This record gives sequence, structure tokens and C-alpha cells, in this order.
Amino acid sequence: MSTGFSLFVIAGTVVSLIAFFLLLQLNRKISNPGETTGHDYDGIQELDNPLPAWWYWWFILTIVFAVGYLIYYPGLGNFKGLGGWSQVSELEKSQQLAEEKFGPLYAQYRDMTLDELVETPAAVKMGGRIFASNCSVCHGAKGEGSFGFPNLNDEEWMWGSDDVDIETTIASGRNAVMMPWEDIIGTEGVNEVTEYVLQLAGREVDEELASLGATHFGMYCIACHGADGKGQKLFGAPDLTNEIWLYGNSRARIEHVIKRGRNGVMPGFEGRLGSDKVHILAGYVKSLSASK
Ligand code: HEC
Ligand code: HEC
Repeated sequence: MSTGFSLFVIAGTVVSLIAFFLLLQLNRKISNPGETTGHDYDGIQELDNPLPAWWYWWFILTIVFAVGYLIYYPGLGNFKGLGGWSQVSELEKSQQLAEEKFGPLYAQYRDMTLDELVETPAAVKMGGRIFASNCSVCHGAKGEGSFGFPNLNDEEWMWGSDDVDIETTIASGRNAVMMPWEDIIGTEGVNEVTEYVLQLAGREVDEELASLGATHFGMYCIACHGADGKGQKLFGAPDLTNEIWLYGNSRARIEHVIKRGRNGVMPGFEGRLGSDKVHILAGYVKSLSASK
């Protein structure tokens, strides 16, 4: 906060504390002990007696406590307190404690291969919990995926299914680049190549249209999706020869991707979770498709 506002807060706090004390002193003095104050409520009279001693001293104690508190902890404007306490240092302390306590739990799996992790129920269970709090927002509670977020239970891997591929995907994230094609091959070209893509996937298509599309495909698409359309993990280009679609399975949806392009982003988690948790997650992800 600005210096001016800080001074305002300090002044307000100090003045209030002094005012409390004065108010207390003023009310402690009594003019007519044993007499009534003259107040009368439906026949109940208020006596002019001193404040009970225990009450008075409790009040003094709260003021002393407040002064001590405001000297030790931050509370008076920008004054940081003599104790050096801050929310950040507190958080860091508890994070460090958690790291010391739980770190070894995660580290014990560090040297196992993903296949060994898949065979270790405790590791899979731990991975499931980390998955639930970090990954299911996008990939679904069981990794089933949804529009734009890949299903992790199926046999298709855009970015590769080798252990190192899965681990790299989770640790560093991935950026998919499927550029828009309408400006390059025109609306008709998009229509033709869509027909060819559908043929690759095994659907009934207009043969003539598809063969025109095959030419575009050979020219523009094989660099990433491969000559056979089975995709390439280097680019995260999906296999187009099956019925697994990231962005919908209708002709309109598929045509739309080709026309306008797509840029799916998988965030990297190494910085946030550390490599031990990423390793356990990779084992969990592998267990999802291994159970099929
Ligand atoms: C630079 C590499 C690259 C080129 C060239 C490329 N693609 Fe793609 N394509 C991708 C990537 C990567 C994705 C996945 C996009 C994502 O995950 O957001 C993709 C996705 C798609 C999809 C959606 C698949 C699904 O599961 O929903 C279709 C269809 C497609 N491409 C067709 C084509 C066609 C047809 C061409 C040629 C005109 C082409 N692509 C050219 C990289 C490429
Ligand atoms: C913000 C949403 C989001 C979160 C959170 C997220 N992912 Fe992803 N993930 C994606 C997207 C989008 C893709 C696909 C990228 C693309 O289009 O190529 C993806 C791709 C993947 C892939 C590659 C799939 C393949 O076919 O190769 C794996 C594995 C994966 N995520 C695992 C995880 C794990 C494990 C976590 C939790 C640590 C996680 N993801 C968290 C959005 C997310």
C-alpha cells in the first residue's frame, strides 16, 4: 500500500487503541457508589457501581496483547513486524515440510520403469490421485477425454506411446500446429481433401472427389500426417485412418478442422509437480491404456 495510506492505517489503529483505554478509564470512575444512576427500566434500577475488577483487567490485557501483536506481526500499515512473519514465508515453510514428509514417498518410484509402475498398485493409486487434482479438469476423471482433449485410454497416441514420449509430454507439455488450409487449397480443395480423409478412415465416400483430395493430401498433408495418413509423433499429427477424432467425427467437424486449423495445447507439469510426480503420472497414464 502507499505510504500515505499506510500512515492512515497506523494512525487509525493507534488512536483507536488509545481511545479504548481512555474510555475504560472514564467509565471506571464512579461518582455515587451505591446510588442508582437514575436509569429505571420497568422498575429495574441501574446502580452506579464500578466495573468488575476482572472485567477491567481483561480489557487492559487485550490492549496490551494488541500492542504486542502489532509490534511482532505485520498489522500496522506497511510495518512488517519484528518477528519477520509473512504469509509467503509461512507457505514456503509448510511446502518445505510437505516436501520433506512426502518427497521420499514419490522418490521411491524414481528408478522404476513405467511398466514396473503399472504393475505396482500403490504407485498407480498415487498416480490416480495426482491425476485427479491436476489432469482430470481437461482429460476427464478417468482420462476419457472430451472435445479437444485426448482420450488417454485408447490406443492412439498423437505424441507417441514410448515411455520417454509419455513422460516428455507430461513434463514439458506439447503444442500442436495444424494450420488452416482454406486460403491455400480453397473451399473446393478442402471439400475434396475432407472426402479423402474420410476414405482413409474407412468410410463410404464419393470416389471421384476423394481421388482429387488424394492429390492435395500428397502435396500438403503427408509432411505431418505421413504418406499413409497414420500420423507422426514428431508433430503430434494424429492418425487419420481410424475413427478416433479429437475434434468430432462428423464430416462438418472434420472439414472445419482442415479449413480453419487447430492448436491444441498440453501444458507442461515438470515445474509445478517436479520430476518424481511426473514419473508416477506417466506410469498411471500408461496403466490407463494398458488395462484395455
Ligand atoms: C504441420 C503439420 C501438419 C500438416 C501439414 C497438416 N496437419 Fe493436420 N494436424 C496436425 C496436427 C498437429 C493436428 C492435431 C491438432 C491438435 O491436436 O490441435 C492435426 C489435426 C488434423 C485433423 C483433425 C484430427 C482429429 O482427430 O480431429 C485433420 C482431419 C487433419 N489434421 C487433416 C489434415 C489435412 C487434410 C492436411 C493437409 C491439407 C493436414 N492435416 C496438414 C498437423 C498437420
Ligand atoms: C489445460 C488442459 C490440460 C491439462 C490440465 C492437462 N492436459 Fe494433457 N493434454 C491437453 C491437450 C489439449 C492435449 C492435446 C494436445 C494436442 O492437441 O496435441 C493433451 C495431451 C496429453 C497427452 C498426449 C496424448 C497423446 O495422444 O499423445 C498426455 C499423455 C497427457 N495430455 C497427459 C496429461 C496429464 C498426465 C496431465 C496432468 C498432469 C494433463 N495431461 C493435464 C490438455 C490438458
